[in-house]
Amino acid sequence: MKPLLEMRGITKRFPGVLANDAVDFDVRAGEIHALLGENGAGKSTLMKILFGLYAPDKGSILIDGEPSRVDSPASAIAAGIGMVHQHFMLVPTLTVTENVALGLESQRFGRPDLDEVRARIIELSATYGLTVPPDAYLWQLAVGERQRVEIIKALLRKARLLVLDEPTAVLTPGEVDDLFVTLRRMSNDGQGLIFISHKLHEVLALADRITVMRDGCVAGRTVPAETDREGLAHMMVGRPVKLAPEVAETQDRGVRLSIKGLTVVGDRGTNAVEDLNLDVRGGRILGIAGVSGNGQRELAEAVAGLRPSASGSVTIDGKDITGVGPSTARSSGLAFIPEERMRDGAIGSFTVSENLMLLAHAEPRFSRRGVLHSTAIRNHSQMLVDEYAVKTPDLTTTTSALSGGNIQKLILARELEGEPAVLLAAQPTRGVDIGAAEYIHERLVAQRGRGTAIMVISEDLDEVLALSDEVAVMFEGRVVAVIPRADCTVAELGLLMAGGIGSEAA
Ligand SMILES: Nc1ncnc2c1ncn2[C@@H]1O[C@H](COP(=O)(O)OP(=O)(O)O)[C@@H](O)[C@H]1O
Ligand SMILES: [Mg+2]
Repeated sequence: MKPLLEMRGITKRFPGVLANDAVDFDVRAGEIHALLGENGAGKSTLMKILFGLYAPDKGSILIDGEPSRVDSPASAIAAGIGMVHQHFMLVPTLTVTENVALGLESQRFGRPDLDEVRARIIELSATYGLTVPPDAYLWQLAVGERQRVEIIKALLRKARLLVLDEPTAVLTPGEVDDLFVTLRRMSNDGQGLIFISHKLHEVLALADRITVMRDGCVAGRTVPAETDREGLAHMMVGRPVKLAPEVAETQDRGVRLSIKGLTVVGDRGTNAVEDLNLDVRGGRILGIAGVSGNGQRELAEAVAGLRPSASGSVTIDGKDITGVGPSTARSSGLAFIPEERMRDGAIGSFTVSENLMLLAHAEPRFSRRGVLHSTAIRNHSQMLVDEYAVKTPDLTTTTSALSGGNIQKLILARELEGEPAVLLAAQPTRGVDIGAAEYIHERLVAQRGRGTAIMVISEDLDEVLALSDEVAVMFEGRVVAVIPRADCTVAELGLLMAGGIGSEAA
């Protein structure tokens, strides 16, 4: 049988980048084909070519074995291709039904009857588990619901092949499960699905086949039964990758960071963190799991001295640092890797060296009576760049020109200098490629080995599980459970993160 879709020798060049380099890719009816790759690998470009948004420089597209000219989204839709974009294309001031109708109207179906559209939405909701309220306005919907509207829109336009570009990036773990149920039902009905992701466990859980892209090329093709997370990471990066750092036995140094009864007011004026208690021991990593927006950001900012706390206390090695501000918190032994690395962690317009010296430049070894000692500064910066493998043309490069992973290594290098008592790392590998993430994890574990108490806040459950000795789950500003790593299951953490009660916490 002919594949539903064949893309042959697709090449696309942008100024300075070969985004797709002779890519061959095919999808059969009834299969979920995952397209996996790091940021910048060329996945979205390939899909935009499929959807007629970009013209390829070379290559051809065949649908049901027949050469097909897909030169606009309208012709892609006419050919049965649907796309759920990374950024939704819906009108907030219209209802769900009106949005779906709008999608139909713009094609060549004539003006649709709203009652009929509404009935079809309800029917599709039932068939595929795509629950949406047809009469609600788009602005009233949660992100997961908006995504379901996009999928319904594509189904109503009779898509036989549906492309989902990073659909899980915006979803909670529970919503991801629901989406996977929907996608499986669709593939059982004979739809072809292209599922784009850079998350290894999702691809392994969902895909029938997997194509891995790296630097614009197909780096490998496989199926879940013949590979695992390490195997996929190897293909993505082009070298063996250790996904879980080796965590050695270390000495327990007792409680070094203690948070007691902490309440923090968020930007909306309500309590973002409420009566929170946590202890972190030296030589241990405490992971904080939670869906974003449950107080993690405000907790980190309060501990780091960037945000006042309404009540409660934060102590480091017994010393109260509540409300002392960021520089005193730092001199009391706190190192901080902020979530907003370009806002709170580094200054984009400064050079690499200036960012590395941001906190140390006033020390006597680097300056005397206001005169900077440039050789000492240069040597010190170079030492940190080398030690932390920061890839930069030189020390005077503007920091904003570095990749996310290299900026994060730079911040890590600066923060871990001088053996902090406590390290608070918020989303330490978000937006960072797998190779840099591996390196950052190794450094965190090494710091654990030196007796620092480490708190890692992350929305990435795999990261939390790979690093932590204990996992605390935050929900609506509170810690709802603290579970030793050995007793954690993804299912239970997911439930707790969504506000459910796990067996441990009950
Ligand atoms: N419209 C564009 N103009 C210039 N360069 C682009 C454009 N779109 C993508 N690129 C570049 O092409 C490469 C592949 O990008 P993309 O297809 O978005 O990757 P992915 O979706 O795998 O993250 C990247 O280097 C990106 O910067
Ligand atoms: Mg993309």
